[in-house]
Amino acid sequence: MFGFPFMPGLLEAKNALILGVANRWSLAYAIAEAFRREGALLTLTYQGERQRQAVENLAGELGKARVLACDVTQPDDLERLGQVLARDGRPLDAVVHSIAFAQREDLARPFVETSEAGFLLAHRVSAYSLVAVSRIAAPLMTQGGSIITLTYLGATRVVPNYNVMGVAKASLEACMRYLASELGPRGIRVNAISAGPVKTASARAIKDFSAVLDTVAERAPLRRNTEPGEIADVAVFLASNLGRGVTGNILFVDAGYQIMGL
Ligand SMILES: NC(=O)c1ccc[n+]([C@@H]2O[C@H](COP(=O)([O-])OP(=O)(O)OC[C@H]3O[C@@H](n4cnc5c(N)ncnc54)[C@H](O)[C@@H]3O)[C@@H](O)[C@H]2O)c1
Repeated sequence: MFGFPFMPGLLEAKNALILGVANRWSLAYAIAEAFRREGALLTLTYQGERQRQAVENLAGELGKARVLACDVTQPDDLERLGQVLARDGRPLDAVVHSIAFAQREDLARPFVETSEAGFLLAHRVSAYSLVAVSRIAAPLMTQGGSIITLTYLGATRVVPNYNVMGVAKASLEACMRYLASELGPRGIRVNAISAGPVKTASARAIKDFSAVLDTVAERAPLRRNTEPGEIADVAVFLASNLGRGVTGNILFVDAGYQIMGL
């Protein structure tokens, strides 16, 4: 017999929580698929009743994925999520935070017009939620773990119309570093993946988003846009033992675009 020997997946039997699947185009869904491929046990969360059926259907396609409600602006939802995970009686190994929101008008009008309410909402959902999720996840990561969030170049460079979301991503990246510093002694690593632009529901809310895709395809070193699967494979690396020495980092998965000056 010349078959390949059985190769265990990189995340075999690891317990992973993935927040941010809305539909099959969500980056979180690509990550969930890659985590399943590598043998992880999945818990997916959905934001609200409107998404429940779609996320349950996707979980069914993935197989063996549990689905729970969690709107990160609702402290009760977060508390319930923590309680359900604690009842599992097995450690949590990985968390993927793939959540962001800003009012559509704040992604289309001049940044100087951003309202206080729009500013706070974007930061609450897109940055503070990483802190809130980490607070419930860390005590469950009794064997150490990996927390991964998704960010974008607009945190440090001006990208037309990204506006308040860029400012929220800057906060998210700083939150990631403070969490990495505090949770590191417990063996919990915290990192961000800075993804190149991908056409998802959130991205479509940004005015003239297709111009961003065109610019990247033209100028990125790899002369193309980023595939969701490329982002997902880096998430696998960070969640796996291969990433054991990496924390407090931002890994760019963007066809190299971020190195370009012009
Ligand atoms: N698509 C891109 O071009 C791109 C590039 C870089 C980074 N990102 C980041 O990737 C992450 C995922 O976005 P996506 O592009 O997959 O879009 P998406 O719309 O599929 O995912 C965004 C998710 O955030 C969730 N969400 C929003 N408000 C929430 C709340 N109050 N509680 C719980 N969940 C909430 C939505 O339900 C959705 O599942 C975001 O952080 C986004 O900023 C996306």
